[in-house]
Amino acid sequence: MNFNFDEVIQRRGTSSIKWDCMEQFLTVSGHDLIPMWVSDYDFRAPPTVLHALQERVEHGIFGYSERNQEYYDAFINWYQNKHKIAIERQSIATIQGVLPGIALILQTITDVDDGVVLQTPGYGAFANIVNLNQRQVIGNRLVQTKKGYQMDFDHLESCLHAGAKAVILCNPHNPLGRIWQLEELERVALLCERFNAWLISDEIWGDLCLPGQQYISALSLDERFHQRLIVATSSSKTFGLSSLRISNFVIANSQIREQFTRQMSALGLDVYNALAMHAATTAYQTGEPWLAELMEYLQANIDYLQQHLATYLPHIHFHPPQAGYLVWLDCRALNLSDEQLQQRFIDCGIVPSMGNTFIEGGSGFVRLNLGCPKATLDVACQRLTHALSIK
Ligand SMILES: Cc1ncc(COP(=O)(O)O)c(C=O)c1O
Repeated sequence: MNFNFDEVIQRRGTSSIKWDCMEQFLTVSGHDLIPMWVSDYDFRAPPTVLHALQERVEHGIFGYSERNQEYYDAFINWYQNKHKIAIERQSIATIQGVLPGIALILQTITDVDDGVVLQTPGYGAFANIVNLNQRQVIGNRLVQTKKGYQMDFDHLESCLHAGAKAVILCNPHNPLGRIWQLEELERVALLCERFNAWLISDEIWGDLCLPGQQYISALSLDERFHQRLIVATSSSKTFGLSSLRISNFVIANSQIREQFTRQMSALGLDVYNALAMHAATTAYQTGEPWLAELMEYLQANIDYLQQHLATYLPHIHFHPPQAGYLVWLDCRALNLSDEQLQQRFIDCGIVPSMGNTFIEGGSGFVRLNLGCPKATLDVACQRLTHALSIK
């Protein structure tokens, strides 16, 4: 191991939402809680990125800054080398975060009251964005099978037939960790084509494939689908840079891309954070060895939890994720209400994301973030044994 993911670093007192804002966001309080909710890591960003940031800070001047060619080249090369996907410079729009970009693209391609399909259980912030922009959330339930969750294409077809204007895919999927296969993406794209709907593929988790897995970007779909396709990516989730705020929207349709960037200017969002760009550029250029080791580490954490459950809590299950560091724990065998389940976790000192906040289909489940040092996970596992035993 060249990188130290074992170090337990104090994050309390850094204005971290995950560590410092449990009371504000979840009305949960107590000391010694292990937060396993918000999906960011408890690891430092890659040393090369920290070094680049330190040098930039040393320079000391942080006047207005613009994205430069080096940033675009770094992103394009990353996608070419890591994912074998060619991205054209002119199709890239950048914005200060994936969620703001999804909100802006919805404002660009849909109207008030239009239906937007979200696959559920799914990332709750998607539903908030759709609702707050006065569009309608249409849930397309993923079906749980022995092999994991599968898409329900018949239901998706009925949503689009009923007039939904856009589908937001989470690829790979949060909270399930599923990597969608090309045939699945094709079926969704075909349905969108047939019903003239837009496909927005949020691929923020795409770089975080676990060892032996490869994610398939919607950008690998046939060119003919690209005029109605928007793909969102970011280095933030990959390299632990979430608060720096920079993301990429690949929009082949020039008319939509121009509307999107015009709207950003209308909001005064056309100036960029110098530190964010410098960090993201360096991460794309130099971060691969760090990421490769991290994914091994995260896989070991997932295996460790799975082993722990099999030994001490055989009634609690999860389908091993293919990407990411989140596990979707099925706690239904405990026969508890969501309030009781949450209380069990809090009483034993763990703060999960409750399954019922994932739009629909999540009651009786919790999502746990395993992006932490092994020592933290070890304590969490001991606590889980108490929280989740059948009493
Ligand atoms: C699927 C998905 N999209 C977007 C985000 C947030 O992206 P950003 O911080 O760039 O707005 C997250 C964060 O967890 C996520 O899981």
